[in-house]
Amino acid sequence: MSENVKRPFTASSFYQYMAEKKLMASRCQKTGVLYLPPKAICPETYSTDFDWVELSGKGKLVSFTVVHIGPSFMNASGFSKDNPYVTGIVELEQGPRVSARIMGVDPKQPESIVIGSPMKAEFISQFDGKVSRTILAFSLVKEEKETKKTMEEKTTATNTQRLAGKVALITGGAAGIGKATVERFAQEGAKVVICDLNETLGQALAEKLGPDASFYKVNVANRQEVQTWVDAVYAKYNRIDILVNNAGIVRDSQLVRVKDGVLVKQMTEAEFDLVISVNLKGTFNCTQAVAPYMIKQNSGVILNASSVVGVDGNFGQTNYVATKSGVIGMTKVWSRELGKFKIRVNAVAPGFTATEILTSMPEKVLQDMKSHTPLGRLGDPIDIANAYLFLASDEAAFITGTVLKVDGGLVVGT
Ligand SMILES: NC(=O)c1ccc[n+]([C@@H]2O[C@H](COP(=O)([O-])OP(=O)(O)OC[C@H]3O[C@@H](n4cnc5c(N)ncnc54)[C@H](O)[C@@H]3O)[C@@H](O)[C@H]2O)c1
Repeated sequence: MSENVKRPFTASSFYQYMAEKKLMASRCQKTGVLYLPPKAICPETYSTDFDWVELSGKGKLVSFTVVHIGPSFMNASGFSKDNPYVTGIVELEQGPRVSARIMGVDPKQPESIVIGSPMKAEFISQFDGKVSRTILAFSLVKEEKETKKTMEEKTTATNTQRLAGKVALITGGAAGIGKATVERFAQEGAKVVICDLNETLGQALAEKLGPDASFYKVNVANRQEVQTWVDAVYAKYNRIDILVNNAGIVRDSQLVRVKDGVLVKQMTEAEFDLVISVNLKGTFNCTQAVAPYMIKQNSGVILNASSVVGVDGNFGQTNYVATKSGVIGMTKVWSRELGKFKIRVNAVAPGFTATEILTSMPEKVLQDMKSHTPLGRLGDPIDIANAYLFLASDEAAFITGTVLKVDGGLVVGT
């Protein structure tokens, strides 16, 4: 790392600057330098005399995308429209896809966004008494034999066109595990149909993958939108081979939190209902929309995103766990109801996987998860995508009604 550099930017002036340069408008993939906070921690994002640390060194990032921060995350992290923020998705050459808040750019190369350093990212949490903010700390990656093999080499080696010509619908496919699944399926020859609420990321991904990929802005919780989407896809391809019900959200809170005998906080009805509507009802909506088409063609694969916490439970996740357990139940029901039409239905239960969804999770919990994982790391989205690929492929022709845990052997504690 080089010496600390003082930047004139505050969060909002930086935001304005980026807007003026039209860097927010679309996907940017340029080379340059990324500045991150000292000690890689961002104590107060609006500090005017903030020291920035330049992260430079050997190695590369694969890509970097500037996006607006979503309203749900804004609320969760205490930001608002009046206090906007710039965030980005950083994909490392190896290792997990990570998210980073972009704190500054090189003033000499203001349009430079992408860095060329091998970095590892770890979640660091901060609790100021009111809001828990989780950010990422970056450090240079040590040279390891394993990391020499790039993601591209790994995936090329396993690119066997196992899904050639199949039409695969992937909900929540614009980011995280969904995006890795979209990319993996596309490599294996599938025509991928991305559904997501995030138009910027979804559209950019479809464009990157070419004419065999398409994006639809759909809220899986909305039955009408889902039906319109599925009908349009069937009209276009005249078949639907695979549905991955991946879209999911968290709104964590304890059932009740009591201090000195007084109720100080509890999971709200809105938090409970929202998570149910996306994770559980969304899965129901999408499956119910595709099932008649799959029955008509007498074939199909439905894959549902559960979670290890759906099997074992987890502190502070009443709503989320209810959905992830419910998804396992629905998987078993549908495998029975749809088996006679040669439709296979399975669930994947990922362990803690390095994506945006974990940014609301306290660092202590993540460290705890790692220490309870025999393989000693968080999951990488590609780990989960490969499990979906196997279950979607003909190699899994005799597998239905099952839950495949992909969690590094994680044993959830009390
Ligand atoms: N990351 C983990 O540790 C982990 C572990 C177990 C299970 N899972 C599950 O895997 C799935 C993907 O998780 P992730 O970590 O990649 O999440 P993510 O937050 O990185 O991505 C989720 C994607 O879903 C989209 N989405 C959210 N609500 C939507 C809606 N109503 N309609 C359409 N799209 C919507 C988001 O825009 C986003 O692109 C989720 O179902 C999650 O519960 C994740």
